[in-house]
Amino acid sequence: MSAGTDDAAPRDVEALAMSETQRVLVVGSGTMGAGIAQVCAQAGMEVAMTDVSTSGLERGLQGIHRSLAKLVEKGKLDAAGRDAVLARIATGPDAGAHAANADLIVEAIPEKMELKLALFRELSAKAPSHALFGTNTSSLSVTEIAGASVDPARVVGLHFFNPVPVMELLEVVRGLATSDATIARALAFAGAIGKKAIVVKDFPGFATSRLGVMLGCEAMRMVEQGVASPADIDTAMKLGYRHPMGPLELTDLVGLDVRLSILEHLHRELGEQFRPPALLRQMVRAGHLGRKTGRGFYVYDAAPKG
Ligand code: 3HC
Repeated sequence: MSAGTDDAAPRDVEALAMSETQRVLVVGSGTMGAGIAQVCAQAGMEVAMTDVSTSGLERGLQGIHRSLAKLVEKGKLDAAGRDAVLARIATGPDAGAHAANADLIVEAIPEKMELKLALFRELSAKAPSHALFGTNTSSLSVTEIAGASVDPARVVGLHFFNPVPVMELLEVVRGLATSDATIARALAFAGAIGKKAIVVKDFPGFATSRLGVMLGCEAMRMVEQGVASPADIDTAMKLGYRHPMGPLELTDLVGLDVRLSILEHLHRELGEQFRPPALLRQMVRAGHLGRKTGRGFYVYDAAPKG
């Protein structure tokens, strides 16, 4: 910071950031994108949620409706509050059409680097010069994604956890070019949506996915080896270690395809210990992706849970 900007103390940066993040564009309406759109709208922000798939957008909105209904049921939100949250969420197919109005753009599209690069290239050319760019990637390089943006200093990892309205953590990932001001704005955003943030270095798997997928991976190897049934492995971790969910139930919640793509990436980047189990590949090939398809390590009702 130069001598001429002495009065831009951290508190002022934070206040500016709070007021700046009024309009959020969430790209991708899957489980994560819909959850991110919901928490931003609940925090009073105007949200545009976009998806190239119309049916995907519809599913995302249904998930938000289900999640808000739970809050109403528990008395945490009244009907007027729910309607106000829903009224703050606009939807559409074209992210580019909303970029010019966004203070913050959060990318929550599939974990394919070429898709993310193309999106950041396009949107960074259309967004205002103050806009912050967050990627919800679980493990890909934030530094590489930022490289496609016109201003990599304004790109940061904003890694949310499923179910987004419930999980308290926001993992803020600092890419090589991410500026201090961007980190300050990301932290202010976390505060504004009621999340506790940690800041981690851009390294494959960050602080969370690297540990989380390893537990799931070992649980799947144990199923392959016939050590115990999925239900008993999950019970072991719930009752023996007080995990809220067992590693296989959690794999079903996150999605087997999501877990596989994280493992494939970490296998390439960090080595043999992350080699995806053959069972996981087979289940993904069979379309047994977990809750969202009604079948994974367990069988679910036809309607996916929100
Ligand atoms: N929206 C709003 N509220 C929800 C909700 C949703 N989608 N899902 C659950 N809730 C609320 C419930 O209403 C309930 O509220 P209450 O405490 O006021 O009664 C509370 O959350 C607990 O839910 P339930 O009683 O239905 O069930 P559980 O007590 O079993 O909790 C759980 C469910 C919160 C999912 C819990 O099992 C849990 O924390 N599991 C672990 C989840 C986890 O590890 N997530 C991280 C996955 S990794 C990831 O996301 C990273 C990504 O990159 C892949």
